[in-house]
Amino acid sequence: MAVNEHPRRTPLIAGNWKMNLDHLQAIAFVQKLAWNLKDAKHDVAAVEVAVFPPFTDLRSVQTLVSADKLPIVFGGQDVSAQDSGAYTGEISGAFLAQLECKYVLIGHSERRTLHAETDEIVSAKVTAALKHNLVPIICVGESAADLELHGPSAVPVAQLRAALAGVTNAADFVVAYEPVWAIGSGKAATPEQAEQVAAQLRLVLTETLGQDVADKTRILYGGSVKGSNIAGFMREPNVDGALVGGASLDIDEFSSIVRFQQHVGL
Ligand code: PGA
Repeated sequence: MAVNEHPRRTPLIAGNWKMNLDHLQAIAFVQKLAWNLKDAKHDVAAVEVAVFPPFTDLRSVQTLVSADKLPIVFGGQDVSAQDSGAYTGEISGAFLAQLECKYVLIGHSERRTLHAETDEIVSAKVTAALKHNLVPIICVGESAADLELHGPSAVPVAQLRAALAGVTNAADFVVAYEPVWAIGSGKAATPEQAEQVAAQLRLVLTETLGQDVADKTRILYGGSVKGSNIAGFMREPNVDGALVGGASLDIDEFSSIVRFQQHVGL
């Protein structure tokens, strides 16, 4: 299987900065990333590049991207299920939309574990994001214990079904399969493992929202993705990109991931 055989699904490489880089560092980073990709003659139409900075960076990133017309999109790492009101510390989807965020990460495993986000909360956040015309990137994945107890796909499949509870087939969203045991561990899943679960997740999309949605929705793999292993994932028919944590903080490494088509050995 050659890479990118899905004309309806443009690959997406998304960098999740987590709690790294302040707004000044963010400006320098995004500027350098854009230069780096331009120097490398990256085909911006062929692979979409997104970054997910901390909230406090978003206004600076927006200003830079829009002033210099950089071919990089951005999004929030989380969103509130509420629109406005007495929710100290929460960020409304309306605010993210005002800052020209295209995407928002929802249900990342660090949110699920460290902030006790349940499937119900994830579903409410997905609904809130869609309401504000943000494209949710719905993160699902099994822990090492889940893997042992239930096998690889049961938990991600259940999480996706729950997250889609309020979603219609008109919605634009992305799914990110991130095995918890692979996140930040340096131990990525194998391309075969990623494909096996991604195929199950696509079946969920077919069953719940129909063939068209299943055909056009991108499913990313995340968990210890690097320049040296991205090509293997991108060769799989159901993997349409990557959600990258640690390696997204290194410009050369992240650029190399974005440019997987150059070193995939087609
Ligand atoms: P990692 O993180 O690439 O550092 O494993 C992925 C993620 O948390 O999205």
